[in-house]
Formats: sequence, structure tokens, C-alpha cells
Amino acid sequence: MKRDLSIETKGLRRLFKGIPGKGDVIALDQVDLEVYDDEIFGLLGPNGAGKTTLIKILCTLLLPTQGEALIKGLDVVKQAPQIRRLINLVSGGETPGYGILSVKENLWFFSQLYGLSRDFAKDRIAKLVDQLELQDYLNTRMSKLSTGYKQRLNLARGFVNDPAVLFLDEPTLGLDVLSARRLRTLVQDWIKSGGKTVLLTTHYMAEADQLCDRVGIINRGKRSSSCLRTSLPCRTF
Ligand SMILES: Nc1ncnc2c1ncn2[C@@H]1O[C@H](COP(=O)(O)OP(=O)(O)OP(=O)(O)O)[C@@H](O)[C@H]1O
Ligand SMILES: [Mg+2]
Repeated sequence: MKRDLSIETKGLRRLFKGIPGKGDVIALDQVDLEVYDDEIFGLLGPNGAGKTTLIKILCTLLLPTQGEALIKGLDVVKQAPQIRRLINLVSGGETPGYGILSVKENLWFFSQLYGLSRDFAKDRIAKLVDQLELQDYLNTRMSKLSTGYKQRLNLARGFVNDPAVLFLDEPTLGLDVLSARRLRTLVQDWIKSGGKTVLLTTHYMAEADQLCDRVGIINRGKRSSSCLRTSLPCRTF
């Protein structure tokens, strides 16, 4: 059965020019990637391999130097506004939203940036607050949250618009063991709702093993030719 492509890159390159002490840095070098609908794809690789750079390009936050990147068939350079409606990004260690706003206010604010209707936003926020156990912190200012609770808020923000494609860049950074497990369950349940795709980076092998349908390796900006399927036989693509 032919599956629909959700994320596709062809010969993707990204150069950072004139970096002091380094010269030109090739962060991505001819990267080809295919991720399908209903799939959780894990991107693994050492520090500085190019994972975040790839995600930033796919999220339309950074332009590619060369090559092509498509989300649901839309081009990241030419059709960025359409893509932004379909996606969301959660990065580990990121400051989620505005420090002076409470958890509740931050989630409401982001729901409105996504143009969600009042009823949909209320339901969605209530569900996420429950799933990520943020109930006791609804009226706490974001700046007063601990690292792990900031990351929970960050995750709630990432799911708030129920995106078609979710990018998770080290999503369990700073989470305790139980919270990390809860997040993995949330991601697994969410993907079952259908028509969703997750591209995940992590340094935790167990996390990739538990969550991902397929795993790709990237090193020094290059994709390795083989792809390890965690629950299925290895294959080359
Ligand atoms: N804005 C930037 N300016 C200059 N160089 C950059 C920039 N962003 C990334 N790089 C360089 O590009 C390369 C890839 O970085 P990237 O952040 O994509 O790696 P990563 O795989 O996400 O690493 P990590 O596992 O540490 O998060 C590195 O050499 C990095 O120094
Ligand atoms: Mg990174």
C-alpha cells in the first residue's frame, strides 16, 4: 500500500558562512528524508550533527541554502504561511511563552495565535492541562515554574493547535522519569488519532526505541544510508 508523504527533503543543504574560528560550517549536506503520515520518525545523531538545523528549516524558521523541503507537499520556502498552520514545534530547554503570563494565560494566548475557536481552545487546553498535570500551576506565572514544569507548558503549547505535523526537538529534556513517560504516552495516543506525523530528535536511545516507527541517523550534516527500524526489520532507503 502506498503511504502519503508528510515530510520530504531532497538534497537539502545548509551552510553557515564565516563563523569565527570555524569559517564556513556545512550544517546539512545533501540530506534526503522521507517521513510518512501516521509515523513517528526519530532523528538521532551526536551534538552538532545538524538535527536542529533540519527541524528549523522544516518549521520555516531557517532558509535552506540548497535543495528542497516539503511539508504535506508544500514548499518551506514558497509556501511558509500555509505550512505554519499545519505544524508545531517543541524544543527542549526552550523558554515557553511569556514569563509574566500564567500557565493558563500563556496557553490561551497561543491558542488564539493559532486562531482556534473559543470552545475548541477551552476543551483542548483543559485536556492538555489534565494530560500534562498542570492543574496546580494554572495561575502560576511561567517565570516562576521549575524547569520540568516549564517544559510541560512548552509541550502543552506544542499540542494546542492539534497540528498535523509535530516537531519535537529533545522534548523530554528536563523532565523527570515519570513526566517523560507520560509525554511518551501522550505522543503515542495522539498519533493514533490519525493523520498525524511526528519528527523527533532525542539523545535517549530508550526513548527512540519506545516511540519511533523508524529511526534515521545524521552525522556531520549527512544522513547515513541505512535506517534502523526499531520494531521492524532494518532496511535501506
Ligand atoms: N545560527 C548558527 N550559526 C552558525 N552555526 C550554526 C548555527 N546553528 C547551528 N550551527 C552549526 O551547525 C551545526 C549543526 O548544529 P545543530 O544545532 O543543527 O546540531 P544538533 O544535531 O541539533 O546538535 P545537538 O544534539 O547538540 O542539539 C553545528 O556545527 C552548529 O555549530
Ligand atoms: Mg539540537
